Amino acid sequence: MTKTPLKNLAIIMDGNGRWAAQRGLARTKGHEQGAEIIRDVTRYCAKHPEIETVTFYAFSTENWKRPKLEVDFLMRLLDRYLQKELATYQENNVKFLAIGDMKAFSSKLQERIRKTEEATRHNTDLTHILALNYGGRAEITHAVNSLIAVGKEEVTEADISAALQTPYSDIDLLIRTSGEERVSNFLLWQLSYAEFYFTQTLWPDFTVEELDDIVTDFQNRNRRFGGLS
Ligand code: FPP
Repeated sequence: MTKTPLKNLAIIMDGNGRWAAQRGLARTKGHEQGAEIIRDVTRYCAKHPEIETVTFYAFSTENWKRPKLEVDFLMRLLDRYLQKELATYQENNVKFLAIGDMKAFSSKLQERIRKTEEATRHNTDLTHILALNYGGRAEITHAVNSLIAVGKEEVTEADISAALQTPYSDIDLLIRTSGEERVSNFLLWQLSYAEFYFTQTLWPDFTVEELDDIVTDFQNRNRRFGGLS
């Protein structure tokens, strides 16, 4: 049987806080460990012969509701992460892209994001996307407004797909860790025909071995896209 092709992977990284609580640590330690796992997963995806993009949900439009200390920590962690990971991107031929509304971030962080995108824009083995201050409904609304702004009076699905921030219009596989089974306003348009995989593993405990098993599980699935097999 031929393997189901996997080009676009998306991940909701959940469970950092619970991982830390289980160890009697501050929630921020869970986020720090979580950032390490992103690096391992990125390397795996860059080496995988089929995967073209991996999109991580790093900060949602709803995450501003968290205590200011935690939000501030996540912003600093992101800045440190991008500074450190530039070498990983270059060594692994990975293009970095951020999606979401970055205007709410400090100008220093916005500059770091822009510079990382610029420095990696010619890399071709993988596009690694961080969704930052991202919401799926906001992305679709923004896409439609941008079409209205250029004079469109009626839009097609292809118009909306092309106006989204992601370089693809369809996710093949969505993984969510920590046992929660929801989409949480992530890539709403792009998930229309995605396969879902929910694992109990908390994000800081997630490994490339488990990812490899999930990829194999996906490759054995029969995707019908509403048709017959
Ligand atoms: C969910 O854990 C995770 C997030 C809020 C976002 C993911 C953030 C990271 C992996 C850390 C840093 C990322 C970068 C790119 C530097 P949670 O806090 O909701 O966990 P809980 O549900 O157990 O409380």
